[in-house]
Amino acid sequence: MATPHIDAELGDFAPAVLMPGDPKRAERMAELILDSARMVTDVRGMMGFTGVYAGEGPHHGKPLSIMGSGMGMPSIAIYATELFRFFGVERIVRVGTAGGISPAVSVGDVVIASGAHTTSSMNELRIPGTHFSAVADLAMASAALHAAAGAADVFAGPIISADHFYFAVPGQLDAMVAHGVLAVEMEAASLYGVAAEHGTGALAVLTVSDHLTKQGADMTSAERETRFQGALSLAVAAAFA
Ligand code: HPA
Repeated sequence: MATPHIDAELGDFAPAVLMPGDPKRAERMAELILDSARMVTDVRGMMGFTGVYAGEGPHHGKPLSIMGSGMGMPSIAIYATELFRFFGVERIVRVGTAGGISPAVSVGDVVIASGAHTTSSMNELRIPGTHFSAVADLAMASAALHAAAGAADVFAGPIISADHFYFAVPGQLDAMVAHGVLAVEMEAASLYGVAAEHGTGALAVLTVSDHLTKQGADMTSAERETRFQGALSLAVAAAFA
């Protein structure tokens, strides 16, 4: 049964879905890590693919889907809700980029988002009278951490999911640094809320693509690719947790 934003049938998606923001990246990832991939939806150009995991290791040959989420919390909430509610999806791993906040992380590092503060009101109404805690699925986060095997460029901790890319309230950045926020992106808090609502699992594995409080060298395209592969292997481990 198609939903308003996904033109697919029950069974077209694997229980595990990787979600980059960009549907073109979903297509490239499907070429890279799936065997027998087929496109299962492309409503509004938001392509989704299903195949079997082509990589080495214990998860080789397992069904896996990859679909774009679009940018921002309302967009990922639409796709995550429909995937969890109507297509039998059990785990979503967001694989995206984030801006570094903590001086402890650098461009190119990977952040496993254990929880996501937010400037959004999307989780405010979930538990009346309560400030909802948007937290990752612990089994998925620990699978990603385990796969990282203590690598010095992988961090786990709180991030912030912001509604604005280009705007911050004065003092906000300093307070984030003071509270140990590792990075900022625009989707995880709502993904975690939607997963809580459906009793399913979610995690965000983020590559630091720029830094808001620290000057540093940009990545070369070769570095970018290697780093992305690293993040992807952690995301795959979490998807099959
Ligand atoms: N802000 C919000 N989202 C982001 C950023 C940023 O600086 N970098 C990558 N995603």
